[in-house]
Amino acid sequence: MLCDKDCCRRFGIFVIILVIVLFVCFIIAIFVSHVQQKIVIVNANLSRFEITTSPTTSLFFNLSFTMSIHNSLWYDVHGAKYQDMEIACYYNTMEFDSIDLGNFGLDLMKTRIVNHSRSGNVTMNLTSNEVDAFKRSSETGYFDIEIWLQGNRIFYNDYDGEQPTYLSYPCKLRLQLITSQNSTTQGNFTPVKCY
Ligand SMILES: *[C@@H]1O[C@H](CO)[C@@H](O)[C@H](O)[C@H]1NC(C)=O
Ligand SMILES: *[C@@H]1O[C@H](CO)[C@@H](O)[C@H](O)[C@H]1NC(C)=O
Ligand SMILES: *[C@@H]1O[C@H](CO)[C@@H](O)[C@H](O)[C@H]1NC(C)=O
Ligand SMILES: *[C@@H]1O[C@H](CO)[C@@H](O)[C@H](O)[C@H]1NC(C)=O
Ligand SMILES: *[C@@H]1O[C@H](CO)[C@@H](O)[C@H](O)[C@H]1NC(C)=O
Ligand SMILES: *[C@@H]1O[C@H](CO)[C@@H](O)[C@H](O)[C@H]1NC(C)=O
Repeated sequence: MLCDKDCCRRFGIFVIILVIVLFVCFIIAIFVSHVQQKIVIVNANLSRFEITTSPTTSLFFNLSFTMSIHNSLWYDVHGAKYQDMEIACYYNTMEFDSIDLGNFGLDLMKTRIVNHSRSGNVTMNLTSNEVDAFKRSSETGYFDIEIWLQGNRIFYNDYDGEQPTYLSYPCKLRLQLITSQNSTTQGNFTPVKCY
């Protein structure tokens, strides 16, 4: 016998404690990796959102928003380097607008504000069901729009050098269309956190 009954029990308890400790570390790691950046849509105005169906289905939009990107990684005193950053706007999983932020740096506890405003049109592939859903949204005046911040954050360590880590933060917005009849919603936008 390798081990008597008592020793076996102690070994069993040791394994259970080890598993619990590893699990707690894992949860903390997930939490910390998620609070490295705080991404918030501070304000947004949707003043045009309509589709025309002939000759092709096109979406016409006027959208402006302010996004705040905050670096809060407490242990990285050198600040953060971001690479190939992009903001993409989606309706119904289809991208209708994007903003190239390129590469930039952000010191610890610093915030970058991105103001974006664009009026544009894109060709969209919507099925007739999706066109119907769009029309229902037009009647209520609310549209579900997703704004994603995507790109890489560069981490540095002595062994591997620069290590890019892919980031992606979805900001899920339900925006009320601002019309000339209804501008009451303007100015009372509740900031949306992006996870
Ligand atoms: C959308 O933007 C365009 C160009 O900035 C402007 O001419 C137009 O009046 C806007 N439409 C609405 C409904 O806000
Ligand atoms: C939205 O419109 C309000 C009122 O005109 C304005 O104060 C705010 O700055 C606008 N926000 C953006 C992101 O354009
Ligand atoms: C973005 O817009 C806000 C409010 O309109 C303004 O206070 C801020 O200075 C702008 N920031 C940039 C970087 O343009
Ligand atoms: C659609 O957008 C393009 C630029 O992307 C512009 O040249 C064109 O005039 C727009 N079409 C309409 C009908 O506004
Ligand atoms: C729309 O769908 C057609 C056929 O399904 C496809 O050929 C075309 O590339 C699509 N266009 C876009 C912009 O996805
Ligand atoms: C304007 O917006 C308010 C607040 O969302 C809403 O209660 C009201 O019904 C809207 N009015 C019109 C004419 O759409």
